[in-house]
Amino acid sequence: MGVTSVTYVVNPDRVICVGGGMLYGQFLEHFHRQIYGGVYDPLSRFSDEQGLREDVIEALKHLRVPVIRWPGGCFVSSYHWKDGVDPNRSPMFDKAWRVEETNRFGTDEFIGLCHKIGAEPYICTNAGTGTPEEMSDWVEYCNLESQGRYARRRIANGHDNPYSVRLWSIGNENWGSWEMGARTVSQWGDLVRESAKMMRRVDPTIELSAAALPDAEWNLRLLEKAGPWLNWISVHQYWDPIHETNDNADYEQVMAMTYDLESSINKTYGMLLALGLSDKIRIAVDEWNLREWYHPKALSNELGVKEDEYLTPRNDNDDNSQYTMADAVFTACFLNTLNRNADKVGMGCFSPAVNTRGCIYVYDDGIVLRSTYHVFDLYANSLGDEVVDLWSDDGADILRVSDRDGAEVSVKALDIIATRHGGSGDISISIVNKDMHKEKSVRISLPAAYERGEAVMRTINGSNPDSYNDVGRNEISIRTTSLGLWSSDDVLHIEPHSVNVLCVSLHGDVRRLP
Ligand code: AHR
Repeated sequence: MGVTSVTYVVNPDRVICVGGGMLYGQFLEHFHRQIYGGVYDPLSRFSDEQGLREDVIEALKHLRVPVIRWPGGCFVSSYHWKDGVDPNRSPMFDKAWRVEETNRFGTDEFIGLCHKIGAEPYICTNAGTGTPEEMSDWVEYCNLESQGRYARRRIANGHDNPYSVRLWSIGNENWGSWEMGARTVSQWGDLVRESAKMMRRVDPTIELSAAALPDAEWNLRLLEKAGPWLNWISVHQYWDPIHETNDNADYEQVMAMTYDLESSINKTYGMLLALGLSDKIRIAVDEWNLREWYHPKALSNELGVKEDEYLTPRNDNDDNSQYTMADAVFTACFLNTLNRNADKVGMGCFSPAVNTRGCIYVYDDGIVLRSTYHVFDLYANSLGDEVVDLWSDDGADILRVSDRDGAEVSVKALDIIATRHGGSGDISISIVNKDMHKEKSVRISLPAAYERGEAVMRTINGSNPDSYNDVGRNEISIRTTSLGLWSSDDVLHIEPHSVNVLCVSLHGDVRRLP
């Protein structure tokens, strides 16, 4: 008896929401080797005259990164941007990460990086030790002809034209006890409103976001006081809680984490809805990754902690063997979640872009494209923007997996979204198989207009769930298989632990296929 297949019926004419684009953003923080020794390294033979690593820029350009959030993260909550544009820049002690910050990479270098990549800058301001005035001075520096000359401390800078930075965020995780200048629920709304007021007086066209979390009291107080000033509400999420241990969840435990990827989005959206703000304010999941960054003891105030207990261990983030097919499958599932909820979520920033847990590992002699890089490549370059209706009577193929505590969790084995390319009408369908052992047999039923269209399947996989890429080791990449002319009767065999995009062209024109 043959293996039974599940049929998914796609209705390309029923657009659920418009996703893609801004959902595939990235985040960069002054942490460990993300900036210095990552995107910026004036001494590297790969760097341009501005000190930016050209190999990294090319890799990010290929991902068509729409937006980059910077400079933190926790770092920003004691960062004073003027120190990073001064002609005579001097180092400071970064109290968030307890290291020296040279200030050689500041606002101009960040904007230069974004311009080279073609990404939109998204600046996160210091709402910890900073003031509304400092935030609004930053807007003046970036967006007015005066380039910050009216700022209380005169800024002599060299950029020719205003940078016109549209996206600004007020604060980072100011609800958290670890954050420099953390705020109480009752303080936060007032600070956001007053900061927004001053920033908008400088440039009324900017879009503003504020640090939040899926917590009713925090959001209700924030939105009550500052809702009318905001366009975005910022939430962060990491699933594998390993910032003190670096004890990575294994493949199966990671799959258990895909159980309810929508909960933060739904909770946050519910609050916007209740306050009548859901049409005005969109959710920015502007820091997310499967695994927390490893920085043991960095956030503690324990006496007697030595540098080698909090600094040296950070190098372990660079162990590429940690970024396996588990990371790729999880990342694809969350990008599917963002796409499915693109009516609520307008921006996503993977945390971070480079080094630490990022999708690109940078070293002296080159770069490594980790498993997650290929997922962003596949999604940015092969999926369409319009998320369309997809239906199945599969009764769901359920996987039973153990979570980090050993409890059994049931998750769907397949995570699928269908998209249409607005211009051409071509269809691209992401099919993620979380099952680490079993291939899945799937039929995709498309309308008659796609019959005999040209079809290709692009697959990301390694030989096993723990495969990874490293220097001199390339186990994971995108493989393209031509499927010839499309027929909805064909059965697709979806490999275990794989991420796939099936592309079918509307008129059978293979050259147009995404
Ligand atoms: O662990 C990295 C930190 O995680 C980021 O700086 C912060 O925004 C988040 O808490």
